[in-house]
Amino acid sequence: MNDTNQNQFEEILKQSLSKNSCIKIVLSKKRPNSDQVASKINIRPIELKGNLCYQKTSQVQKQTIHENFSSVEIANNVLDLFENHYLNCHLFTTESDYEIRHKKKDGIHINQSKPTLKQSIEPHNKTRQYIIPDETPCQFLIEVGIMTTDGKVRKSRYSKFRQINRYLELVSDTVPSLPENETIRVIDFGCGKSYLTFALHYYLTEILSRKVQIIGLDWNEHVIRECEKIANKLNITDIHFQTGDIGHFKNSDPVHLAVSLHACDTATDLALAHAISWKTDVILAVPCCQHELFSQISHSAQSPILDHGIMRERYSSLATDALRASLMEICGYNTQVIEFIDMEHTAKNVLIRSIRSRPIQNDGGENDSLTQKKEADVANYQEFKALLGIETFAMERELRKLDQIDSFSG
Ligand SMILES: C[S@@+](CC[C@H](N)C(=O)[O-])C[C@H]1O[C@@H](n2cnc3c(N)ncnc32)[C@H](O)[C@@H]1O
Repeated sequence: MNDTNQNQFEEILKQSLSKNSCIKIVLSKKRPNSDQVASKINIRPIELKGNLCYQKTSQVQKQTIHENFSSVEIANNVLDLFENHYLNCHLFTTESDYEIRHKKKDGIHINQSKPTLKQSIEPHNKTRQYIIPDETPCQFLIEVGIMTTDGKVRKSRYSKFRQINRYLELVSDTVPSLPENETIRVIDFGCGKSYLTFALHYYLTEILSRKVQIIGLDWNEHVIRECEKIANKLNITDIHFQTGDIGHFKNSDPVHLAVSLHACDTATDLALAHAISWKTDVILAVPCCQHELFSQISHSAQSPILDHGIMRERYSSLATDALRASLMEICGYNTQVIEFIDMEHTAKNVLIRSIRSRPIQNDGGENDSLTQKKEADVANYQEFKALLGIETFAMERELRKLDQIDSFSG
């Protein structure tokens, strides 16, 4: 091996990583005796929880493996892989492209040329990177037709791709509230075609290397059969698809994460109430078609809004989600209502994200500040209901049925 060129390669690589000028590294052309390594490896900088790191993506048979490394770790990893397993390495930096090859006769050969790629992470890491990147084959996205087999997102499916990534970002913020060392148990209510269920599975198992048990529940038998077919093709055995009604779903195992995405009308209320009753650690809901309050809301002081159909509809949707968030707080969940995906892509863009924070039942005054908070939450909820002029609300009825609220009438 030519030591000078080896040292030069090491120097170029380490400099590009320390200066954040590295855009991409590709290792290809396996050595004949390197059966155990991926046929090709792609490495790119990504921002993870505000820190720059390097994501290594390896395609091993049908499986895509993602691993994240610091710049020091990735430098050592690339040098080791290039020395022992791969004949070619392409390093793309903001200043130059480098093609580094092992040549039979004269050892390592380095070819430098003009840069062909643009930096996608800005110097201060402000650019958002997708958790599942474009341009890298991801088996489940290929299977559901969002990506081509060479990893390109189909133009017509780009908004779904963005939605999936946005969803995973929102999930990733809640990971610290999930158990650290046990299997993460998840229920996806109204899973439908399950793009987001598979995405969640991919994120937790492939990216975070966690063990999961996921139930995908939907009352549409046809979609459940289709989801099963996809799971079989992908060799996924830890998602169990089940036909059933959210309102009648019985569960005796612990649940750590419950999601309900675009479940129609009061199905969201049933999902939230059931998840609360199981003391689920994290609950995520993106409601849709909130019809329940539309005809109920009646308060003369609000007639400037209620007299116009479009405003009545939007107002009743917002009021529904406000009441849901308020009940989540009453039941001991820290709750945020945030934008799921911008309005340009879907009008169903509100996410209710709740993290369990305190005992659900009234603690009998043992903890004054919690009791006071709960009393204030209940008072606000009641006042808001009175302002809306509504008698009854699905989530409250279901919580009552499940014995989850006992200390106020409504
Ligand atoms: C609009 S789709 C959303 C699918 C998926 N969660 C997503 O976001 O892509 C709503 C799904 O909820 C299911 N659903 C609605 N009400 C339900 C209920 N009470 N029990 C079970 N499934 C329900 C429907 O069959 C449908 O598949």
